[in-house]
Order: sequence, then structure tokens, then C-alpha cells
Amino acid sequence: MSRRLAAVVPAAGRGERLGAAVPKAMHLLAGEPLLVHAVRALQAAPSVAAVVVAAPPSQQQEVCALLGPRVCVVPGGATRQESVARSLAVLASEVDAVLVHDAARPLTPPSLIESVASAVLGGERAVVPGLPIPDTVKQVDAAGRVVGTVDRAGLRAIQTPQGFERALLQRAHAGARSELTDDAGLVEQLGQSVLVVPGDDAAFKVTRPGDLARAEAFLDRFKLGPDGCWRPREAGGHG
Ligand code: CTP
Ligand code: MG
Repeated sequence: MSRRLAAVVPAAGRGERLGAAVPKAMHLLAGEPLLVHAVRALQAAPSVAAVVVAAPPSQQQEVCALLGPRVCVVPGGATRQESVARSLAVLASEVDAVLVHDAARPLTPPSLIESVASAVLGGERAVVPGLPIPDTVKQVDAAGRVVGTVDRAGLRAIQTPQGFERALLQRAHAGARSELTDDAGLVEQLGQSVLVVPGDDAAFKVTRPGDLARAEAFLDRFKLGPDGCWRPREAGGHG
């Protein structure tokens, strides 16, 4: 059975930690909104058949004009979770697999999107990209005193896109008991196991102003190769 996969992009956050005058998804990176970078990467991944964006309600018209007729735009909600739920509600009936991907991860390479997509299309019900934690991690008490050192070998920093069987993700949202910062967490509440595949450094989330500077510097040094991976610009000496 061939499966149809859609991507849902929560983009309705205000970006309070970035502190910009416009919603974070509309903030420019190399002259284009973060959201445009994120959607372009999704559209470059061959497995992604459709894209739905949850836009800041005040910017819905602008976002529609920006992304063109191939992208469905819905008004986002007050929380990320609500924005995702609103996007899931408009998916076509034939969609049976979903990627949820933050607009705030503009440099996510198509190769990572494809890696998560292929795991889901191959039958995994919930898949997230994750990276080992480079820093030492400590547990602290309310006073800021160290309680213990956590063994980081078993920890992963989780990114997006996160991929799911559609019915499972919708059930997880319908039964959500709390507000979580990712979708896999909701699926975990159902007792579903979640597979972690290798993440990508370039899929970092733009959260604070320094992250924008990091993204600009990255684009100065890397370009997207035909394989959907970032390559150093010097390589080959062209472009
Ligand atoms: N998001 C959303 N709807 C919300 C809140 C967040 O669609 N009500 C989206 C953001 O636009 C972003 C993603 O969820 O693409 C990840 O959220 P985060 O990085 O926290 O973005 P913001 O909520 O915009 O930032 P902040 O928490 O600093 O205000
Ligand atoms: Mg937020």
C-alpha cells in the first residue's frame, strides 16, 4: 500500500525569546522569512506530498501570499499544540502519515526530513530526530544546588520534523492531558514507543537572537547539495 504523507508546520508563535517586532516565523534570514526556508526544505523532500502551515492569525493573508497556492494556511492557536491540532484538522482524508515541523528550524536539510519520512512510510508509527548531548548534564534542586550528575549517554536532544502515523497523532492530540512542547510527548502519553533517528546539527531551532546570527553565518559557509545535505561552499570551488 502506498502511503500519503503531509507536513504540518506550526508557525504561529510570537517569538518572545527572540524579541523581534514581527512573529518569529516572519523574521528574515538571508532576506527571506524563516517560514519560507522551512517550507522550501519540506517541498524539496520527495516524500512530502502536501504542506499545511499554522500562521499567526494576524498574518494569515501575508503568509498565503508568501507561500503560494500549493500550501494550505490555517490560523494558528494560542499554543504550539493547538496550532498543530488546527492543522491536523484540515488534512485531506487520504493523508495517512504526518510530519510536524517547526517553522523556527529554517536550516533543516531535506535529507533529515526524508530520513524521518522514510522511517514513517516504512511502518514506524512515531519517529523523532535526536542528537547526543555534548555538555555534562546535572540535576539541580530549587536552590540551584547539584543533586547529581546525569548519565548523558542515554539522553538525546530532540528536533523536528517528527513523523507519525496520522491516526495515532490525531488520537494523541484528542486525548492530550497537558500542554507539551513536542508531539512525540503526546504520543508517549498513549504508551506508544517512539523511535529516535540521528538528528542534524543544522536543524537547530532559532530561539534567541544569537541563533539568528548562527543561521546567517551557516548560510555564508554552506550551500544545499543535490542530495539534500549541506555542503561547504568552498568544495569544488564553484558557486
Ligand atoms: N508555535 C505555534 N503556535 C503557538 C506557539 C508556537 O505555531 N501558539 C510554533 C512557533 O511558531 C515555532 C514552533 O511552534 O515555529 C516552536 O515554538 P517556539 O520555538 O517556542 O516559538 P515561539 O513560541 O514563537 O517562541 P517563544 O516561545 O520564544 O515565544
Ligand atoms: Mg514558544
